[in-house]
Amino acid sequence: MEREAVLVGIDAGTTKVTTLIGEVGRTGDVNVIGYGIAPSAGMKKGMVANIDQTVNSIASSVEKAERLSGYKISSAFVSVGGSHISSQNSRGVVAVSGHKREVSREDVARATEAAKAVQVPSNREMLHVVPRGYIVDGQEGIKDPLGMSAVRLEVETHIVAGAATSVQNLSKCVTTTGVQIDEMVISSLAAAEATLTDTEKELGVLIADIGGGTTDIAIFVDGAVYHTAVLPVGGINVTNDVAIGLRTSLNLAEEIKIKHGNANMAEVEPEELINVAVLGETGGQTIQRRRLCEVIEARMGEIYSLIREEVKRSGHARMLPAGAVLTGGGARLAGADVLARETLDMPVRIGSPQGVGGLMDQIGNPAFSTSIGLLLWGANHIGEEPIGYGGAGNGVNPLSRIGEWIRNLFPG
Ligand SMILES: Nc1ncnc2c1ncn2[C@@H]1O[C@H](COP(=O)(O)OP(=O)(O)OP(=O)(O)O)[C@@H](O)[C@H]1O
Ligand SMILES: [Mg+2]
Repeated sequence: MEREAVLVGIDAGTTKVTTLIGEVGRTGDVNVIGYGIAPSAGMKKGMVANIDQTVNSIASSVEKAERLSGYKISSAFVSVGGSHISSQNSRGVVAVSGHKREVSREDVARATEAAKAVQVPSNREMLHVVPRGYIVDGQEGIKDPLGMSAVRLEVETHIVAGAATSVQNLSKCVTTTGVQIDEMVISSLAAAEATLTDTEKELGVLIADIGGGTTDIAIFVDGAVYHTAVLPVGGINVTNDVAIGLRTSLNLAEEIKIKHGNANMAEVEPEELINVAVLGETGGQTIQRRRLCEVIEARMGEIYSLIREEVKRSGHARMLPAGAVLTGGGARLAGADVLARETLDMPVRIGSPQGVGGLMDQIGNPAFSTSIGLLLWGANHIGEEPIGYGGAGNGVNPLSRIGEWIRNLFPG
């Protein structure tokens, strides 16, 4: 493959930090050539709670990826999570300029600027302004208005903002490790890049990235993002409940959950027994597997109920024919899809990351949808002016080739 650019994605999650290095080919294909996974310390519910610990976790993940690939990382696309993230839809309207009255790039940019002029309080930082579609002289549903004859151009955008302090804390942690930020991308939109098909997005679909500390949601309608939200619940809550229910440590509860857990009670034999290690008892204890799975089912059911409420709040409950795609480490739980189908009352599939090559044996599962999505986001958006931090995508040295690549891609 002829390499055209090298991009880096860093997903600093509540349970693990993942750094991926990807090569982008001339045709836009992405190949992962290095990865580094480090346990996450210092993050709580998707947010930085301890700077030093978070810096160390990120640094350790970055170093691993560097060692494996032989590259030195200079900048990266970075995921943002946490329930401080909020979103709204905003419309921008402009008169089409120029004597020919044809929509130009500049008109589109002015319309987007107008949409951005919404009230975002000074303690909030804008993370995304995604154009969802255009209205040209009242005609709705236009995807690409360039060159159309018109007097009036409207753009519908989805705007995502986060608490300025939370965003800055994360960016500080990343830059302290010596890595510059190309762009910050909210976890749900990154995960969507790696898991959703175009057809699903056109039809209407919900993605839920069930992580350790948060569940990141995005709703797509008519091919574009319509609603995003972050719920402060995830797999850690399930593990906590198991630890309490079985009176065991968090580490053991996590093991037991992964080995014996199932969110679908119909798959659990009524009399099945399992041997689990329990605090203060040597040789462990024999319990009914049902007991474990009831605890898991209750908490997963609650997470799904919260998702359902959020879908209702978006006003799109009945407009998601493609149903829900579950991803994130939490979606790897056995029976997670069956229970979701019941609770959400819509089609459900588990979304594994697609669209990149290389190292899929190690990172080809739902726990890496966000980090893989960051690479795909970078490959799709490289050369665009990001809203928040950073410049273009100069993931690793040598840097010189990438500027060339951008000029080739965006001539003039
Ligand atoms: N095979 C598995 N079965 C059940 N649960 C699993 C499995 N693998 C991972 N998990 C759960 O997934 C969760 C971690 O998911 P993930 O790695 O996506 O989180 P994160 O990105 O670190 O956190 P967040 O996105 O919330 O900040 C943990 O709670 C873990 O117990
Ligand atoms: Mg995550």
